Amino acid sequence: YFLGIDLGTSAVKCILVDDQGGVKSSHSVEYPLLQPQPGWAEQHPEDWWKGTAACIQALLAKASVLGEEIAGIGLSGQMHGSVFLDSELKVVRPALLWCDQRTAVECDWIELTIGKEELGRLTGNKALTGFTAPKVIWLRNHEPQHYERTAHLMLPKDYVRLMLTGAFGMDMADASGTLLLDVAKRKWSPEVVERIGIPMEWLPPLFESNDVAGHVLPAAAELTGLRAGTPVVAGGGDQACGAVGVGVVQQGIASVAMGTSGVVFVHDDTYQMDPECRLHSFCHGVPGKWHRMGVMLAAGGSFQWWKNHFAFEELQQAEAEGRDVYEYLTALAETAPLGSEGLLFMPYLTGERTPHPDPKARGGFIGLNMRHTKAHLTRAVLEGITFGLRDSMELIKASDIEIKELRVNGGGARSLFWRQMIADIFGYPVVTVNSTDGPAYGAAVMAASGVLQKDITTLCDQWIQIVDRVEPNPQQQREYERYYEVYRTLYPTLRTTLH
Ligand code: XUL
Repeated sequence: YFLGIDLGTSAVKCILVDDQGGVKSSHSVEYPLLQPQPGWAEQHPEDWWKGTAACIQALLAKASVLGEEIAGIGLSGQMHGSVFLDSELKVVRPALLWCDQRTAVECDWIELTIGKEELGRLTGNKALTGFTAPKVIWLRNHEPQHYERTAHLMLPKDYVRLMLTGAFGMDMADASGTLLLDVAKRKWSPEVVERIGIPMEWLPPLFESNDVAGHVLPAAAELTGLRAGTPVVAGGGDQACGAVGVGVVQQGIASVAMGTSGVVFVHDDTYQMDPECRLHSFCHGVPGKWHRMGVMLAAGGSFQWWKNHFAFEELQQAEAEGRDVYEYLTALAETAPLGSEGLLFMPYLTGERTPHPDPKARGGFIGLNMRHTKAHLTRAVLEGITFGLRDSMELIKASDIEIKELRVNGGGARSLFWRQMIADIFGYPVVTVNSTDGPAYGAAVMAASGVLQKDITTLCDQWIQIVDRVEPNPQQQREYERYYEVYRTLYPTLRTTLH
C-alpha cells in the first residue's frame, strides 16, 4: 500500500491506496484553527503532528494493515503557512496560515524593495498576503524576539515530514508559494532572499514531488505504527497534489477545485507567466512541469457561511431526513431560475486573491427585489462563486492555451447541478473522475511514483478514469453570459464603498 497524507486547514486526512490505485481506507482527525484577531489565522504545528500520528495509527487499525505493508508515504498540505523553528527544532510561535490577511504592509514593502516587475521576473508571482515571505517580514517587524530565535523556515506538511523522518526538505510545487523560489529555474532565488534579508540557511533543500526526501524514524514508527525506514517522498502543496489526484498532468487539461478556497488550475508543459502576475505561476508536482492557478479565498467557504447562518430550517429538515445539508441547499437553489431573477452575489467574504488581490475586498448581494426568496439567494451564492472562478479562467484563456476539459474536485464536484453550472459559465465540458480523495490521493500517487520508479503521468493514466462528463448547454451559456458581464463590473464599481 501507499499512504497519502493531506494536512488540511480543518483536519488531516490519511488514505491507503493499493498498487492498482484502489483506495482501501481513509481516516481524518480534526484540529483547531486559531483566529486571535480579525483577519488572522494560525495553527499549532504540534497539533498537526499529533493529529497526523493519531490519524495514521487509527487508519492502520481500521484497515487492519500493518506498518510493514506500507511501501511509501506521500505528503500533501495546506500551502503558504509559515512554520518557524529554533535551532533545537522547537516551534517558535504558531504558524501563520494561507488564509491569514495581516501582512498587507509587508507585501507593499517587498514590492517596493524589489520592484513589482523585478519580483515578477524573479519569482513569477506578486507579493500576496497569503504567501510565506510576507509572514516572515511580519515576524521581523512585530515579534523581533521570535525572529531572532528562528533558525528554520518551512511549510506545514514539511514540518510533519521533519517529525516523521528527521529530514529537512521542501518540494518545488509548495515552495513556489513562498515567494522565495525562482519558479522558472526551480531553485531558491538568491536575489529575493538576500534583498528582503531572510537568511538563506533557514531554507530547506528542494526536491521534485516524487523524490524520496526521508525515511520514517524509529520514534515516529512507534507513535504511528509505521515501519521504521519506510520511504517518504517530498509530496506537494494541496493544489498540486489535488491536480495530480484527478489527473491534471497534461497540457490542455484544467481543473476547478472546490474546497474552502476555490481554485482554477491549468497544467503547463513549459513555464508560463501572467504578465501582471494575477494568476500564480508555480512548479507542478509533475517533475519538470509547471502550472498556473487563480485562487478564490471563499468559494466553498461562502457556501458554508450561507449554510451556517441562514439555513437553519434546511439544516433541521436535512437532518430529519438524513440528508446532506449541502445537497438539500443545492436542491433548493435549483428551484430558482437561472440568474436568480437578477440577483448577483459577490463572494469576497475574506478578501480576495484572484483576480482582485485585495485583503479588504468585501462580499454582497446586489439586485434584491421583493420576489426574491431564500431559493434565489442560495442560487445566487452558487452562481456568484462560479462567476468569480470564471474570472480566473478568463486570465488563463488570455494565454492562448487550448483547454479540452475541466476536471472538478472537492466538495462541489458531487453536485450535478453545480457541475452543469460550471460547464455553462466556463463554456467547457466538465468531467469527474473515479478518484474522489483529492490531494491525499495525489500524494499517494507521488509516493507510488517515487517508490515504483514510474512516471506520475503513467500512473495517473493507469489509475484515474473519467466517470462522468457534462457538456455546456448553449442556451444556458448565453443567459449566464449576460449575468457574468454585469458580475465582472461589480467589484471595480463597489470597491471603495465596500472597503
Ligand atoms: C493555494 C491556497 C489554498 C490552500 C488551501 O494557493 O492558498 O488553496 O492551499 O489549503
